[in-house]
Amino acid sequence: MIRFEEQENAFYLDNGRITYCFGIAKGRWLESRWFGRHIRRIGGSARPRYFDRGFCSNPDPEDKKFSLDTLPQEYPGMNEGDFRSPAYGIQTADGRRVTRFVYRDYRILPGKPPLTGLPAVYAEGEEEAETLVVRLEDTATRAQLLLYYTIFREYDAICRHVEVVAGPEEPLQLETLMAMSLDFPRADYDLLTLSGAHLQEKTITRRPVTADSVTLESSRGASSPQQTPCVLLTDPNTDEDRGRAWGINLVYSGDFRAVVQKEPFGGVRVQMGFNPQTFGWQLAPARRFVSPEAVLVYSDAGLNGLSHTFHRLYARRLCRGYWRDRTRPVLLNSWEAFTFSIDEEKCLSLARQAADLGMELFVLDDGWFRNRTDDHRALGDWTADPRKFPHGLGNLARKIREAGVAFGIWFEPEMVNRDSDLYRAHPDWIIRSPRYEPVPSRNQFVLDLSNPAVCDYLVESVARVLQETGAAYVKWDMNRHITDLGSAWLPPERQRELSHRYMLGLYDVLERLTARFPRVLFEGCSSGGGRFDAGMLYYMPQTWTSDNTDAVCRLQIQYGTSMLFPPVTMGAHVSAVPNHQTGRITPLATRFAAAMSGNLGYEMDIRTLSEAEREEIRAQIALYKELRETLQQGTFYRLRDPGTGNEAAWNFVSADGQTVVCCAFRILADPLRRTTAVRLRGLDPEADYRREGDNAVFGGDELMESGLAADPLRQDFTAAVTVLHKV
Ligand code: GLA
Repeated sequence: MIRFEEQENAFYLDNGRITYCFGIAKGRWLESRWFGRHIRRIGGSARPRYFDRGFCSNPDPEDKKFSLDTLPQEYPGMNEGDFRSPAYGIQTADGRRVTRFVYRDYRILPGKPPLTGLPAVYAEGEEEAETLVVRLEDTATRAQLLLYYTIFREYDAICRHVEVVAGPEEPLQLETLMAMSLDFPRADYDLLTLSGAHLQEKTITRRPVTADSVTLESSRGASSPQQTPCVLLTDPNTDEDRGRAWGINLVYSGDFRAVVQKEPFGGVRVQMGFNPQTFGWQLAPARRFVSPEAVLVYSDAGLNGLSHTFHRLYARRLCRGYWRDRTRPVLLNSWEAFTFSIDEEKCLSLARQAADLGMELFVLDDGWFRNRTDDHRALGDWTADPRKFPHGLGNLARKIREAGVAFGIWFEPEMVNRDSDLYRAHPDWIIRSPRYEPVPSRNQFVLDLSNPAVCDYLVESVARVLQETGAAYVKWDMNRHITDLGSAWLPPERQRELSHRYMLGLYDVLERLTARFPRVLFEGCSSGGGRFDAGMLYYMPQTWTSDNTDAVCRLQIQYGTSMLFPPVTMGAHVSAVPNHQTGRITPLATRFAAAMSGNLGYEMDIRTLSEAEREEIRAQIALYKELRETLQQGTFYRLRDPGTGNEAAWNFVSADGQTVVCCAFRILADPLRRTTAVRLRGLDPEADYRREGDNAVFGGDELMESGLAADPLRQDFTAAVTVLHKV
């Protein structure tokens, strides 16, 4: 799949469907040539013409047409005449930031090597993928940049990351480091981003790429609900089903920066990597530093096509472990019903009723540990509160299992309250500058995970509870962002490393815990989707998508999230009405249709339901179990974007193509009760499909071309779930 063409001086990564190509210009610089649909040979038919341009410096004095400022590049530096956004900034021992990295050689490796200490897409066998490593060397310090590119046989994706190796004699200081940089050719693109806030994660914004730069970033100590480390570029006429689309996503959960820069001659530079605002790294001579990984996906089947590659790649080759290929349990979570006032008796009565309704897992959320009466205290002290749980957690978990459901539990391990034994014992374990009062948020502080002793404490305190309870599930929360970036553990000259060292510490903790408890299902959370990113999915195969459980809001949040992540990764719960975030009252059936479109759970006091509601929920869960394979492991097609109108729709197709589930939502009632139809996707046009309920039979061609209509009810917030079986 990878070859070097001597005559063209060019590298090709090609799996027969996509081609990624770059050349070596003037024996030194890496020139981007193509990333897109498979092309046999990039002969240069569309190559930009170069001229002697004003203000463009000429590294080759003999060739005034050649300037790095206009060359499409793979990994551009600074101080050499490319004044666009650099991919790296390195300070050498003399305090200067001038380097000259030139191309040296390359290697081709079978498979895909792991990134030590960092989450990454993986290959299961050497034949699944091939990796190109291109080596650049600085002519003065002999520092090296190793550019990694992996291409997969099965997936239309390229994974990129960079390793920096300091020269044999000279230390260096990294100030900026991008995991990838790519100059797209002269064309007009639309840029789609997934931004938002707590309660409104991953809202799609689409706009043309015009002049200047767009910077997306987080300096919050998490990928954040505000931004997603993701850039989607499309041709202007690309829609969900047609047209070219490129997606770049960082496999990292901490601070990041993404740059989309249109230059005056029409090219577009896209970069993704560390946020220089909170990054810096000292490298001693000959030491190595590894950047996070960026995943680059191309599709010419529209945004759905792009998402399908991300979904398949992330579900199969980013998520790991026991749960990767397994359907996930229907759970009941205690939080929205009880918040902190949870106890043994409530847990048991809830668990019994949950089992009775067909649920499979009871999750004890926040409030279970000693003195945790509200959010002012106790984070850090991970032992059960004897007043709430007089017989201990081990006993509770056993009784819950006896009631017929598995037991799961909530932690927020990265945090501590001032009012806790942990803080009293280790006030120097929090992130802060000793000269200032640290800024609290939700009354809590962030533990310094750059300190190995802190990481050990987290592993041991979580492991102890998992051992005692035999828990089958963990919800791993993170409910504030990082201020006061300072570490009592790191020396002054390494303080800038704290943000990344925090992430390395967290990843190490998660690696150790998931290895020690391979059967435990971990679900990530950061006040909802505040850290719903590819980095976390490597350790935890699902994430709580948003604290906003309002069914109407969830349509947009889940639609946006599905750009990158498959529904099985999205925790989605039916909660009580009026909704605790919006006050909205939506029908139970609509709440279910929204939640079954993700990874289904319930989060309400089911003891207070009417008999009719209980029966409805029992039927919902039975239906969900019937369809679970299709919903969790099938292919997901977005049909109608709730961000652009009064409706939302999507459909799922099972892996074997036999079952189709369509969910269509109408937000406000239409007084004219007009009939609208959604055109399904992914069906066999030659086959017929029988609709569950009335057994009507329709052709796949009709369902995809003419569409499927639902009854326009005289009610707001309605949903129609249609199940079709291939006949
Ligand atoms: C966060 C989570 C919620 C819940 C609370 C508990 O907000 O997103 O689901 O676990 O913390 O404090």
